[in-house]
Amino acid sequence: MFGKFEILISKFETVTFKTIRGTKDILPAETPRWQYVESVLRAVFHRFNYKEIRTPVFEQTSLFARSIGELTDIVGKEMYTFTDRSSESLTLKPEGTASVMRAFIQNNLGEAQPLVKLYYLSPMFRQERPQAGRLRQFHQFGAEAIGSPFPEADAEIIAMTIEIYRQLSLAHCALKINSVGCEKCRPRYKKILQAELRTIAPQLSEESRRRIEQNPMRVLDSKDENDIRLTAAMPLITDHLCEECSSHFGNVKALLTTLHISYTVDGRLVRGLDYYTKTAFELTSDELGSQDALAGGGRYDLLAQELGGKPTPGVGFAAGIERLMMIIEKNTMLNGLDVRPTIFLAAADSSSRSWVIEKTMELRSRGIAAETDFLQRSLKAQMREADRQRAAFVLVIGAEELKRQTAALKNLRVKGEREVSLADLPKILSEESL
Ligand code: HAM
Repeated sequence: MFGKFEILISKFETVTFKTIRGTKDILPAETPRWQYVESVLRAVFHRFNYKEIRTPVFEQTSLFARSIGELTDIVGKEMYTFTDRSSESLTLKPEGTASVMRAFIQNNLGEAQPLVKLYYLSPMFRQERPQAGRLRQFHQFGAEAIGSPFPEADAEIIAMTIEIYRQLSLAHCALKINSVGCEKCRPRYKKILQAELRTIAPQLSEESRRRIEQNPMRVLDSKDENDIRLTAAMPLITDHLCEECSSHFGNVKALLTTLHISYTVDGRLVRGLDYYTKTAFELTSDELGSQDALAGGGRYDLLAQELGGKPTPGVGFAAGIERLMMIIEKNTMLNGLDVRPTIFLAAADSSSRSWVIEKTMELRSRGIAAETDFLQRSLKAQMREADRQRAAFVLVIGAEELKRQTAALKNLRVKGEREVSLADLPKILSEESL
């Protein structure tokens, strides 16, 4: 008895459910813009001959720990990791490269062709402190060119990244590039840097102090003003590259110049993922706040081996869609995009309702965006609805029109009307919507 009473109480309790902190609904007013952006970037990817890959939203935790690096912020602090019912540790993907490389190895994608060019569009998950441009579920588009060790592949990835923003008419993007070296030159440089950093360790921020031993190059990437000042004269990797890395970097820069892509070399750019070798780059926008990175990427020649595959070089990039949207919203570009019906069919009386429904369905099956009334509203209210939906045409059907088999097709855009035969409606509308 008591149990039943409890259930009753909880049934009448008012609860309100909200999105989890750092996640967002993308509402119908915004989705047309998202769809437009997605269509532009897909078109660019296809023009560059990249093919889409879709990987699962969660993977084994160790895949990310191995690829991104145990000591990175992403793996150490930000992953959404959980144990499933079979006690396996799983993680919602914080980025796409590890999953793409896992899929490349697992499915032997390299067997069929020497260079595999893949792109993706997917939600990603990182438990960061939410702020403008930083979410816990965000969306990335990205691409990976797997199989070429050559600078032409780096240049294509960078050129493709830039081309996407160009196609979206985004000006004011700045490209920063660096080379983070390889397994031959980086350890040597790290030692030199570490020794220098140790001499100023007590004055550095706690985070940077910790990084001196674990990941000294990240100290140069610190956002702390005092750290930036103190490390201003530190040796840079670009002055300690081995011959191979140095020549690769030189060739990437020369190719960017050939492709009329302007860039600045930023010897302090290291990025927050450990799999990079040689080229690293970031595209920033001064229209964003402190989270100003629109896109980032680079080369990862050791990742395939790290994940148990054959040694296979790769280079890629990824970009956040929400950050891109922040700029697009600011510029009020694309505000007019919407899903609108071509025609609204209004029933003048109850006897014509079923005809109107049937005709609406017929038009839809013939590829015409048609809408009608589902709330049994008055004719006046239906006309208001047609206006609100911003339909291009409205057709009013009553007993009289059905008898005549003709009706007045009102053009709501140019405010005119003409008598049309109901049988010809699909043909007329297909021609009109062209
Ligand atoms: P990433 O720099 O970690 O690189 O992320 C790429 C982009 O994703 C960022 O520039 C930013 O626009 C967006 N982004 C990252 N975190 C958030 C967040 N919390 N909220 C909103 N947007 C965010 C990678 O993920 C690498 N996988 C890129 C890559 C591909 N390198 C080689 N291939």
